[in-house]
Amino acid sequence: MKLLFIGDIVGRPGRHVVRELLPKLREQHALDFVIANGENSAGGSGITPETAAEIFSAGVDVITSGDHLWDQKEVMDLLADEKRFLRPLNYPPGTPGQGAGVFEVQTPNSKAQSPISVGVLNVQGRTFMPPLENPFLLAREEVKWLRELTKIIFVDFHAEATSEKIAFGRFLDGQVSAVVGTHTHVQTADEQILPGGTAYLSDAGFTGPHESVLGREIEPVIQRFLTAMPQRFEVAKDRVLLHGAVIEIDGASGKAIKIQRVAEAV
Ligand SMILES: [Fe+2]
Ligand SMILES: [Fe+2]
Repeated sequence: MKLLFIGDIVGRPGRHVVRELLPKLREQHALDFVIANGENSAGGSGITPETAAEIFSAGVDVITSGDHLWDQKEVMDLLADEKRFLRPLNYPPGTPGQGAGVFEVQTPNSKAQSPISVGVLNVQGRTFMPPLENPFLLAREEVKWLRELTKIIFVDFHAEATSEKIAFGRFLDGQVSAVVGTHTHVQTADEQILPGGTAYLSDAGFTGPHESVLGREIEPVIQRFLTAMPQRFEVAKDRVLLHGAVIEIDGASGKAIKIQRVAEAV
């Protein structure tokens, strides 16, 4: 089976490029399942039921998130009743929402008659990030129960430090189908299949305007670094790209066969 993971969707330009390109990508890569990080989909900060609905209707099956989760208060509605929306697993016990889910996929592209189950796990790093519960310990437990339901498991590891991301990928190698990083908004070129059969990429990049600083207008960010005074960071407009990775997985073993980076303009 083949899945596409889409890196952080930033604002309206990001949502737009997903809507424009996803039908073509689904066909071109014979995709069975699409996951997208939506933490920046509402005006560049956070996510609302409206922006989530737009992303789902563009053809995304599951939305993950990260540290910008709380930027729009309407996210509480998504956390309360949208099973296809995940937040990082390692928030303290009692936090609304869920960090993992198992989703049934009717795969038009495979010979199998019955639907296949795909596990999706969203975890956040702690290095140069707000402190959360230990992602390694919690992910290990979560993967154990996910594996009782399916061997096909995708992990979005939302983290800053490449060391933490690589260590996390190595830690889960052989236990999950793929570990792909998000959060830095910069696509890395280290895609690989680890020895245990887990596809790995330190960061998928971001989906939105790349004539920017990580999706925001350039000048205010420079001013912020020059003056240390707060600035409004509007979402930029130009050179809109969809960033992500296509991962091919052996349905029986859950091991990855291939990982390919995606960077496409409309
Ligand atoms: Fe982001
Ligand atoms: Fe983030």
